[in-house]
Amino acid sequence: MTSICPETTLKTHDLLVSHPDGVAERLRTLSPAHCRLALLDLSLLSPLIERPGELAPLLSPAENDLFHQFRSPKRRLEWLGGRLAAKHCLHRLLAPATSLLSFQQYSILPDSHGRPSLESAPSGRPAASVSISHSRGYAAALACQVGSCGIDIQHLTPQLATVAERFARVEELDLIDSRLAPLTRLGLIWTVKEAVKKCLLADYPSFFGMIRLTRVERDREASLWTALCQVSQPAVMTATVRITEIGDHLVACTTGGAHA
Ligand SMILES: CC(C)(COP(=O)(O)OP(=O)(O)OC[C@H]1O[C@@H](n2cnc3c(N)ncnc32)[C@H](O)[C@@H]1OP(=O)(O)O)[C@@H](O)C(=O)NCCC(=O)NCCS
Repeated sequence: MTSICPETTLKTHDLLVSHPDGVAERLRTLSPAHCRLALLDLSLLSPLIERPGELAPLLSPAENDLFHQFRSPKRRLEWLGGRLAAKHCLHRLLAPATSLLSFQQYSILPDSHGRPSLESAPSGRPAASVSISHSRGYAAALACQVGSCGIDIQHLTPQLATVAERFARVEELDLIDSRLAPLTRLGLIWTVKEAVKKCLLADYPSFFGMIRLTRVERDREASLWTALCQVSQPAVMTATVRITEIGDHLVACTTGGAHA
């Protein structure tokens, strides 16, 4: 049976992922044409958490069970924001503009590595890969119809500098314009490697050493960077990652091999 997403739910949801024109345009240019990206402002989502009646039509029964296992309000908000951002992407990617299929019909559950996996979709819809990230007030998601994908959003927190030697090499920092703020340079390396991990190394818990940035280019006009990386495991691969700055966050996206 096809359940219908109440129009008010869709409208509420559209508000959560809407952005000023400049930001929306930048986000559009970040992901390839066969993918969709959404960025959700968690401060707009928190009032909805207090209204379980409005959440019910958005989650599958299995997602609903998982959601209620989380005790921390922050974890609940970030997990829910990531799921809704991913469902928004899937809906835009897989459903025609006129379709009001319920978000409940997309069930995104963690696989054995924690990677989000689209376990069920409205009948007849093709499979898609999804990737989710959250950081300081935002959740972001990417969905792609072809191959795997990875997204990372990172608040430019000073904590990045305290663990820099664990993820950034001097040769990689040297690839990035030295006039940029030190935290931005570190954040670029972090988000690139996290996006590549989620896309290509989902089953590798320790991954920073397996990814090496080899080139970083900046398109100032579009406020975009493109980073090329070499991945050493499980086979030698290359990855291209696109990154943009939204306020004091960086968002990085990549797409890659076949998804399961
Ligand atoms: C698991 C990992 C993907 C988490 O990344 P993170 O930066 O902490 O958090 P993000 O918000 O960007 O990503 C979390 C999302 O990644 C997804 N994810 C988790 N494990 C994943 C995996 N193995 N593959 C792909 N995606 C994964 C999930 O969707 C998760 O969100 P959800 O649980 O709400 O659905 C991983 O990259 C990691 O552990 N990073 C931390 C690295 C580290 O060692 N830090 C110490 C300081 S150097």
